[in-house]
Amino acid sequence: MTLTITDNRTGATYELTITDGTIRATDLRQIKVDATDFGLMTYDPAFMNTASCRSAITFIDGDVGILRYRGIPIEQLAEQSTFLEVSYLLVHGELPSQSELDAWVGEIAGHVDVDGSIADIFRGFRRDAHPMGMLQAGTAALGTLHPEAVAIGDADVRHRQIVRTIAKIATLGAMAYRHNAGKDFVPPDRNLSYAANFLNMLFGGDGSYQVDDRVAAAMDVLFILHADHEQNCSTSAVRSVGSSQVDPYSAVTAGLAALYGPLHGGANEAVLKMLRRIEKRGNIPAFIEGVKGGDERLMGFGHRVYKNYDPRARIIKKACDDVFAVTGVNPLLEVAVELERIALEDEYFVTRRLYPNVDFYSGLIYEALGMPAEMFTVLFAIGRAPGWIAQWNEMIQDSDQKISRPRQIYTGYDERDYVPMSAR
Ligand code: SDX
Repeated sequence: MTLTITDNRTGATYELTITDGTIRATDLRQIKVDATDFGLMTYDPAFMNTASCRSAITFIDGDVGILRYRGIPIEQLAEQSTFLEVSYLLVHGELPSQSELDAWVGEIAGHVDVDGSIADIFRGFRRDAHPMGMLQAGTAALGTLHPEAVAIGDADVRHRQIVRTIAKIATLGAMAYRHNAGKDFVPPDRNLSYAANFLNMLFGGDGSYQVDDRVAAAMDVLFILHADHEQNCSTSAVRSVGSSQVDPYSAVTAGLAALYGPLHGGANEAVLKMLRRIEKRGNIPAFIEGVKGGDERLMGFGHRVYKNYDPRARIIKKACDDVFAVTGVNPLLEVAVELERIALEDEYFVTRRLYPNVDFYSGLIYEALGMPAEMFTVLFAIGRAPGWIAQWNEMIQDSDQKISRPRQIYTGYDERDYVPMSAR
């Protein structure tokens, strides 16, 4: 299939090939007014309509509200799989056999410890340091401890870093929490499941804490729901930074930095603070008016791709029941449910196709589990780590990929002379 373009500036006609619903942007460069012309470019700030890569990992249909990892619907994975099995699926492309899963789980359990030098780094932070800042530092430090990781062309080296990233990010996240709480770090327990070990590293240590299986199961589902989401802001950062052929820990650190923002993964923390500020149902109408007046943003609502209900939000809302059966209902749930009901009926949100996204209800569960709001994005990051590293691994092996280096529309001065201070 082709696209015929006639350039009215010259009368010339061009045939551009359409592949997978796209044209190659570089094919536009042939469209010039004369030989000195650079040729046409596309202008697409924030990449609203640009495919940056070809990927087989995650499929989203935002209009319908579909999310599939390697073709398998998120609803089935949340219901029937485990986070480490989903991590294997994302990285390797297929569900593992039992022996493959056992080996994978065993390998990850074998790498959950982090070097003592990283504990020293964490101890150097102020007690009130945001855990996402600590997690970025700890993840970047992994790159200094595993210098072999720069050999990104070696599949075995990539595999070891993939395992280490998934294994260690939970340990680093728990260490950040413990530092903020002024408590000693709890060493990982290889005999516990991934989610149970994480909860034990958070709340254990004195022998009195017993991981509740229902809470560990809910944590595992939440990690599954956050595991990947095609070319979101943080994954794009991982791919872009990774395209310079830096080690994967540095690329994942870039993803952590992007996720930290309130418009992205930081939204779950912002949602809870918003719900606390609203405090009770009676305050919702005034808040909604503030949103419509542009003074507020309904955090946890809206999405660049989903113009329908985020399927993850639906599953998380159900998971609330499981967790609250153990912890007691989070009183802010009532505010959140009423806020959603009102928003979904309000013309402002309906016309803009704004629905709850993954961040709207997750914070209610995290808070009920005893997590401070500052830890919510860390939980998102732990879940997203397999997706980031799977996307990095796919990018490294993609022969179409080169170092990421966009062009620009220059809007500055034409050439002008330097003016000495005496003449200014
Ligand atoms: C995640 O990309 C991913 O896949 C991300 C993610 C993942 O798994 O990786 O799904 C995770 O980041 C989910 C999103 C978490 N962020 C939030 O909940 C923050 C609140 N939401 C927004 O700021 C916003 O909806 C974004 C950032 C999520 C999407 O923004 P877009 O696509 O750039 O849309 P926009 O800002 O241009 O909004 C379009 C219109 C605007 O109104 P008008 O100028 O047309 O009048 O909708 C309005 C916006 O003002 N709008 C909102 C709103 N979101 C959009 N108005 C009020 N509250 C909101 N939340």
